[in-house]
Amino acid sequence: MNSKKIRQSFIQFFEERLHKNIRSSSVVPLDDPTLLFTNAGMNQFKPIFLDELKTENKRVVNSQKCIRVSGKHNDLEEVGIDSFHHTFFEMLGNWSFGDYYKSDAIKWSWELFTKEWKLDKRRLWVTVYEEDIESYNLWKEKTDINNNRILKSGKKDNFWEMGDTGPCGPCSEIHYYVGDNIKNQKASGVNKSDEYWELWNLVFIQNNRLEDGSLSLLPQKHIDTGAGLERIAAVLQNKNSNYETDLFKPIIKKLSEISESSYSKNPIPHNVIADHIRMLCFSIADGAIPSNDGRGYVLRRILRRAARFGRKINLKDPFLYKLVPIIGELMGDVYPEILEKQNYIEKVIKSEEKSFNKTLDRGLIHFEKIISNKNGKVISGDDTFKLYDTYGFPVDLTQLIAKERNLELDLGEFKKLMSSQKEKAKKSGKFKVQKENLNWNILNNDKDSTFIGYDTLESKSNIMRFVKTNNDILLILDKTPFYAESGGQVGDIGIIYGENFQLDVINVIKDNDSIIHVCQGELNRPSIVKCEVNFKNRSKVRRNHTATHLLHKALKIVLGDHVNQAGSLVESDYLRFDLTHFNKVTNDEITEIENLVNGEILKNNETMLSIKSFNDAKKDGAEALFGEKYGEEVRVVQVGDFSMELCGGTHVDSTGEIGSFKIIEESSLSSGVRRIVAITGDKSIYSMQKNDLIIKKIQNLLNIAPNQIISRIDDLLKEKKNLEKQLKQNINNSPTFNFSDKFKKVGKYDYIVENYETIQTDLKIIGDQIYEGLNSGIAVIFNQASDKSSAVIIVSKDLNKIGILAGKLAKDIGGLMGGGGGGKPHLATAGGKKGLKMIEILNKTEKYILNILKG
Ligand code: SER
Repeated sequence: MNSKKIRQSFIQFFEERLHKNIRSSSVVPLDDPTLLFTNAGMNQFKPIFLDELKTENKRVVNSQKCIRVSGKHNDLEEVGIDSFHHTFFEMLGNWSFGDYYKSDAIKWSWELFTKEWKLDKRRLWVTVYEEDIESYNLWKEKTDINNNRILKSGKKDNFWEMGDTGPCGPCSEIHYYVGDNIKNQKASGVNKSDEYWELWNLVFIQNNRLEDGSLSLLPQKHIDTGAGLERIAAVLQNKNSNYETDLFKPIIKKLSEISESSYSKNPIPHNVIADHIRMLCFSIADGAIPSNDGRGYVLRRILRRAARFGRKINLKDPFLYKLVPIIGELMGDVYPEILEKQNYIEKVIKSEEKSFNKTLDRGLIHFEKIISNKNGKVISGDDTFKLYDTYGFPVDLTQLIAKERNLELDLGEFKKLMSSQKEKAKKSGKFKVQKENLNWNILNNDKDSTFIGYDTLESKSNIMRFVKTNNDILLILDKTPFYAESGGQVGDIGIIYGENFQLDVINVIKDNDSIIHVCQGELNRPSIVKCEVNFKNRSKVRRNHTATHLLHKALKIVLGDHVNQAGSLVESDYLRFDLTHFNKVTNDEITEIENLVNGEILKNNETMLSIKSFNDAKKDGAEALFGEKYGEEVRVVQVGDFSMELCGGTHVDSTGEIGSFKIIEESSLSSGVRRIVAITGDKSIYSMQKNDLIIKKIQNLLNIAPNQIISRIDDLLKEKKNLEKQLKQNINNSPTFNFSDKFKKVGKYDYIVENYETIQTDLKIIGDQIYEGLNSGIAVIFNQASDKSSAVIIVSKDLNKIGILAGKLAKDIGGLMGGGGGGKPHLATAGGKKGLKMIEILNKTEKYILNILKG
């Protein structure tokens, strides 16, 4: 049975038992901050299990895209080395939400396996949780499994949990013996030997693991099952390895073609690459992108691992991206996103491969150096860190290369260095205020820091705590209208007035729930104070914050849904927005984005603020940002029907206040991340006025109409280029004069006085040549042209220093020539009448020079 049929028949089997077939959810879970990747089919049903969400469908079936590379379920080490673990795989599953329970789940799984798919019962084994007697008995009663093949096991194997917290429960697994000799089976091999593959896990969800580690009972009991499609395909297609099924074979075939290498001679690199390319395609299609932290760093690690394995089959140039189309061909009908985003996926992968290739060779050379200088079997944390920090080797890549050489890493030391680097990065952050170790003067211990600044910019407040640091005074108030930096928006500035004192608030920051005012000035007799937020500054910040939301939405409309916010800064003077996008944002796209945002500004729509539960906000379509942690209750900022985001920042009342919006910069921040800087309000008007003035000045200088500026400058540049070319040619064509044997000596100085009647070249060029070679002395070269006489005079630097200047000499020599002269201290020219008596002039000049040099 081919894998398409297997998928279909699984779904059909459960549809016939009244299950609704639903779509696979994204492999990048946007709603669950506890997960980097969707690691099980049940992830999307977590809120149903936890009774946070009601559902109409009590029975559901699907085929879910899953990734297991980090966190609780992490198979990376085994991938490609064994034949049945993957970073990306498809999980076939059936679910009951408070409907049927153990009995039907067990009965149906056995029926599908043994009746529908006709798996050999003599190879099947079942495990149950040792305390779950009910399941043990159900296997006996509801199926015809040989009772010796039902095994009991502990928590490790038979109590399934999705992560450190969340829904969980006892489970029952079905294993399959893949070995050659059916007689060689033994119970002790299950969960131990690679000859027994876990094919299907039936989880009886009944508990919730809480933050403190305890288990609570869920209000209802649920079924969550998961069967790996790849393994089932291998078994049903009689293969010893998932990589030999129709899910992987075409990828491997393509890879062998590209690399001209034989799969049978070198299976591991082929397997690893075939596995990793699937993970990369699916995660990028769902919005992840290689980067330096979190989810993005997992992608980077996987890609670098695959690229490194490419080297083992002689693939040096980027090659992974060439495998993307084959993934589309294989899986595009079930997961159309792979085809829709094919171009984008190829670009992301190719660019990341290229940038890694640049560092890989250097890193490998460094690795060899480390090995040759090392005693023993351990590579130090320091060296591992250097490979990571300087050469971009993720630690698991270093581990892999080390393993190939029978070496180990000092991971403890490496982790220490990593955390000290993070610490340093934190310290060099914007806020220099060291919040720790402060000796606060406590005036009042009650609850502090209620933020009232959404509705007012003034307040009468009580000082609760204060402390003087070297530079600043830090204040914490009971309530405050000052906004503390968060969500990319800068802190407010303003003034705090007290009895006989006044403090300038230069920044406001958060420390857990406390709002710290960073102030300058003198604090006398702390007491009740009056707060005044700088209104003008706040207005500018508000404009930029609402404009940021409009920009975010406009980017998604113009560039596509893959655009996500990768960073944001809302200042008073400008806003900065980092976005995941692969290409340069073109000028046309920028204009389109600006037009969309300005269009919303002109509509003068109101911004609507509301507080909702996180789930309700998401249901209403509010945009939650990657990497942000949201509480149960969230603040939703809606601008007309254009944009809806979860946000705690301050915003304009209606979009007209923003005035106007202009993008002033678009650049690349890192691979796959672009940065946009924009301005609003009077800033953007000033900027337009300033630019207009510059254009007018250019227009005046060139004396042309504005629409001719570009072509005129273009012409001028071309002209300049031609002239430079010509000049260079002239210089190159000028003959080289060798005067070295003509120099005479007087004391320690060299000098020359010569006449060249045939010289056509500019005397200055000859002068330059002589100056280059003249160590210490004076040279005078005359030239007789048909219409005039001229001379060049060169004086070495050391003589300049004692006051002998070529300009002065040129003047005197010019006098001898019946003319004049002048120039720079090191080189000057003289000119005079034509047809001079040169012998006389040469004699006089030589005497004159000798006098100077002897003097
Ligand atoms: N959640 C279980 C697993 O991932 C069954 O789907 O194994």
